[in-house]
Amino acid sequence: MSEKILAANFKTNHTRASTRDYVGALDAGMEKMGYDAPVYLFPPATALESFDTRSDIRIGAQNAYPTVKGSFTGEIGLEQLGEFDIDTVLLGHSERRHILGETQEFVAQKYSWFQERDFTIVYCIGEPLEVREAGDEAVRRYIVEQLEGIDTSYGKLILAYEPVWAIGTGKTATPDLIEATHATIKNLSDRPLLYGGSVKPANIAEILAVPGCDGTLIGTASWEVESMLSMLSKVKGEK
Ligand code: 13P
Repeated sequence: MSEKILAANFKTNHTRASTRDYVGALDAGMEKMGYDAPVYLFPPATALESFDTRSDIRIGAQNAYPTVKGSFTGEIGLEQLGEFDIDTVLLGHSERRHILGETQEFVAQKYSWFQERDFTIVYCIGEPLEVREAGDEAVRRYIVEQLEGIDTSYGKLILAYEPVWAIGTGKTATPDLIEATHATIKNLSDRPLLYGGSVKPANIAEILAVPGCDGTLIGTASWEVESMLSMLSKVKGEK
């Protein structure tokens, strides 16, 4: 069995009802194929709950505010996560950095706060197109900046390299580019490193075969459970 880590980011998709159906089908499918590696699932905040699954499905929050509770309209904190025993959080996603305007300082503050509370943190990094076009050294510098204030040796950190130009665009980074960028990132942290950006059933095996790729963080292609199960079956075939 492969030790690859797969994670599904639902973003602003699925309801509580459809998430329940999804988790039920995923659990049954994983059991049927004997898939025993962990699968992380990040449903929207309204669909968080403590699912009773036979397979190793780990539910995480796509975002949370660094507080137990308080006056932070529209946010959720530790009390809301604790209700469902959620101890995994996704931080630093480019959509939150670029659309919601989260600064590196704020992302790092969240990171430290959840690290202190022993959370598993899936931490996203990755460059926009203009930085990629400026060359490898510009990409390296950009990633170093996205790791500012981040304890990259934290034992419950999982890194995810998601080039912004490959997210939701159908443009997957080439295996060579993933290998080179992962090597750069591995020089900065020895924690597991996932690739994300237009991963789908047709390319997941090739991506997971890239040296230095420890798994994938999947958006669009994870939203249909059949597609997710198809990717898991390909992982299972991987050595
Ligand atoms: P896509 O798989 O839709 O490109 O999204 C990747 C992503 O942003 C996962 O966090």
